[in-house]
Amino acid sequence: MSLLIKGGTVVTHDQSYRADIYCVDGRIAAIGENLDVPANTEVVDAGGQLVMPGGIDPHTHMQLPFMGTVAKDDFESGTAAGLAGGTTSIIDFVIPAPQQSLLEAYHQWRGWAEKSVADYSFHVAITWWDDSVREEMGELVRSHGVNSFKHFMAYKNAIMATDDILVESFSRCMELGAIPTVHAENGELVFHLQQQLLAQGITGPEAHPMSRPPVVEAEASNRAISIANTLGAPIYLVHVSAKESVDAIRYARDNGQHVYGECLAGHLVLDDSVYRDPDWGRAAAHVMSPPFRPKGHQEALWKGLQGGTLQTTATDHCAFCAEQKAAGRDDFSKIPNGTAGIEERMSVLWEKGVNSGKLTPNEFVAITSTNTAKIFNLFPRKGAIQVGADADLVVWDPQGSKTLSVETQRSRIDFNIFEGMTVKGIPSCTVANGKVAWQQGELRAQAGDGRYYDRPAYPSYYDALGKRNARNAPTAVVRAK
Ligand code: URP
Ligand code: ZN
Ligand code: ZN
Repeated sequence: MSLLIKGGTVVTHDQSYRADIYCVDGRIAAIGENLDVPANTEVVDAGGQLVMPGGIDPHTHMQLPFMGTVAKDDFESGTAAGLAGGTTSIIDFVIPAPQQSLLEAYHQWRGWAEKSVADYSFHVAITWWDDSVREEMGELVRSHGVNSFKHFMAYKNAIMATDDILVESFSRCMELGAIPTVHAENGELVFHLQQQLLAQGITGPEAHPMSRPPVVEAEASNRAISIANTLGAPIYLVHVSAKESVDAIRYARDNGQHVYGECLAGHLVLDDSVYRDPDWGRAAAHVMSPPFRPKGHQEALWKGLQGGTLQTTATDHCAFCAEQKAAGRDDFSKIPNGTAGIEERMSVLWEKGVNSGKLTPNEFVAITSTNTAKIFNLFPRKGAIQVGADADLVVWDPQGSKTLSVETQRSRIDFNIFEGMTVKGIPSCTVANGKVAWQQGELRAQAGDGRYYDRPAYPSYYDALGKRNARNAPTAVVRAK
């Protein structure tokens, strides 16, 4: 099975140059001009276009059982939407119920994901603690290709990890050479504010951001960073949405801490006015956590990406329909939290980041693919255009444009948070595992074509004398500038 991508400009995180790319059996076999390839090779014409590493979305929730319902996009429809948008790999989350075995949950998610059309891997959430959890973390790292564990500091009475759990789990991550990640919001404060708002009769979606103000995220970000600092652990903050969190990460990095930050395409372009929409359904469709923020925070996130304080972009794709959101008709705290975006992430970032002059095309590659591969120990298998790397590529038409809409999206839900946005810069062809997976609107990949990929552990974060060893931190990522 061979494929030649011909006539394009290769754009990686650090270089742009004219070359063709020859792929054989799922890998990049040669890069150059006038390549000698067999006559039966399939050819993709990339003339006038860019060829970049396929996007990696480090934060998705396909088919997630959450808040009494199950996310509508499963691993098949969700990864298909990803391919349509130029994303060739996801890192999803195994979220064990409290008291559930981590391994049991991991195998449950592996089963659900078998129908993926694009490659996938898993972070595993730590939602409770005892010796069996500590043991199973080791088993997941040693034998199942997991090198990151997630801690929800919010969602009290459900999956929230309290400080004692954070301390135990971060320490265990250091022994195993895994990276702890956090959803940083103070769950006690969110719960308190939710009860207060409901008691005041404020029950609609407008109360959602009121119950989760930026300070609630800032407190948790600072706490997680401080716990990691005390232990000497690296830490990755998912869906950073508040200026205060960006400042906390920048301060910690300036002081030599290994802290990494992710932001979402949605948080970069939307603000909290969406919750004041007089249409209940439209406002509820935007309920996700952390919420969209007041104007001003978006600029802080862009600056965070530009300056290298934030390294990755994701979607937190967790898609619920109107009928599911209606569970919170009389109580905003019961609206299933989550929005979609895997199909739109790359184009939104190109339109608002590259076309506006905030990011170079190389920086775009860094924040949509390469930095995630580096932080989660996948580079250069993924996130790179090199001989031997996985042939996961996107042929990008910088002149092509489209208007994002629920009418044309692949996602199964009935809403698009980017509705009506015209983007210039879209994929014309997505290559996954060396094959044309999606081209000009046609999905060619099939259920089951996606493969699970292992993410090897880092060397233990401790050296032989039991002291913290910074050399074993995740690979230094590319600063956006
Ligand atoms: O609202 C969100 N983000 N839903 C998915 C779960 C999470 O917090 O990431
Ligand atoms: Zn979260
Ligand atoms: Zn999430």
